[in-house]
Amino acid sequence: MAKEGFNSKMGAIAAAAGSAVGLGNIWRFPYVLGQNGGAAFLLIYVLFMMLIAMPVLISEFAIGRKAGLPVLGAFKTLAPGKKWYLIGFSGVLCAFVISSFYNVVSGWTMYYTYLSATGQLASLSEGEVAATFQQTSSDPVLCVIWMLVMLGLTGFVVARGVEKGIEQYSKVLMPVLLLLIVVVCIRAVSLDGASEGVAFLLSPDFSKLSPKAIFEALGQSFFSLSIGMGTMTTYGSYISKKQNLSSSAVSVAMIDFFIAFLAGLMIFPCAFAFGINPGQGPGLVFVTLPNIFNQMPMGQLVSVAFFFLLVVAALTSSISLLEVVVTFVRAQYGIRRKTSTFIACSLVAVFGVACSLSSTIFNFFDNFSANVLLPGGALFIVLFVPLVLGKKQMRDELEAHGGGFRLFEAYYFLTKYVVPFAISLIFIVNILSWMDIKIFD
Ligand code: TRP
Repeated sequence: MAKEGFNSKMGAIAAAAGSAVGLGNIWRFPYVLGQNGGAAFLLIYVLFMMLIAMPVLISEFAIGRKAGLPVLGAFKTLAPGKKWYLIGFSGVLCAFVISSFYNVVSGWTMYYTYLSATGQLASLSEGEVAATFQQTSSDPVLCVIWMLVMLGLTGFVVARGVEKGIEQYSKVLMPVLLLLIVVVCIRAVSLDGASEGVAFLLSPDFSKLSPKAIFEALGQSFFSLSIGMGTMTTYGSYISKKQNLSSSAVSVAMIDFFIAFLAGLMIFPCAFAFGINPGQGPGLVFVTLPNIFNQMPMGQLVSVAFFFLLVVAALTSSISLLEVVVTFVRAQYGIRRKTSTFIACSLVAVFGVACSLSSTIFNFFDNFSANVLLPGGALFIVLFVPLVLGKKQMRDELEAHGGGFRLFEAYYFLTKYVVPFAISLIFIVNILSWMDIKIFD
């Protein structure tokens, strides 16, 4: 089996950013922020991105590249005879769970592309926009069909292989998406009544910060960066030794955060201007944006382009999820990429149907994967760094491109002490608050 790798430095960053930037930024981030009170959540989120998620991302890249193998093989090779490879198994499971609801949301997005292309979203009232989403998400046949279309597309790209498939698409289309988001943002903040939405995003009210909000900010930062389950470990194994891992990780995280922030800046002014509840949950993007497109010059065109590019962003992310499963099946059973893609897609389809049929399953998968599986996985990944690799090997890997990593000491300190402690603490506090045991008030 020839080793696959990304062609260029830009290619690797673009592909990792393509994995990170997706529905997590534009669909999930605004709805979770909306449910958790706004600006204070944003602040905690930024803090978690820098102090917790970044070290995890750097660790994943380094572990993957050091081993030169996708997640399961990476942990097996670096710690032979030990149980660390279970991280890989849990990652594969997690990829299943995320893929199954992710493709449902991608399916909605694709359906919205179709609706706007055929003019069915144009000149709807706010009530009608809300009703359209209600009908969409509660129609199981519709959800299953569009989910299967998305999954099929994902499988198609993955089956063609890493270089030919992933790199090509994400490099060109993501900058276009960014441009479009900026345009919609400008329209959003100039709406009548937008300022309340801007304040919701930017002026923190710490009284709204519950243990649940902190817990969900952590989960969202992992979900958004695609960390905690081996996706980025697998991608790390495709990155060349000549590349600076820490600066790549910083670029990916900055792009990822910036797009999520802009998504907030687009959605909340719109929500407040149209009197939409920002805390209403997973439908938020779909009930806000069509209203703003209806008030823009060339709104229909913008709408089609926006939803289409969001489909592409979702695709590059779901590719990275499926990739984890496919490399697992492939390595485990020694079968061809095409066959293993087919097997993986069939399994994901079964889970996807369950999520399409039941919003309870959908919500459970969504929350459980982001808030429990990913932080849990990340905890073991960062523990692996001091317990198995140690400082010297880590430094060598991170400096393998020939340059120094100035913040190495800070990175290592965060990874060894701060991240494991913070994740454990946030878990414990949240479990206590589930059990209704109050420790803060
Ligand atoms: N980060 C992606 C998003 O924001 C979703 C995603 C892709 C993901 N691969 C992942 C999340 C791996 C967690 C783990 O849409």
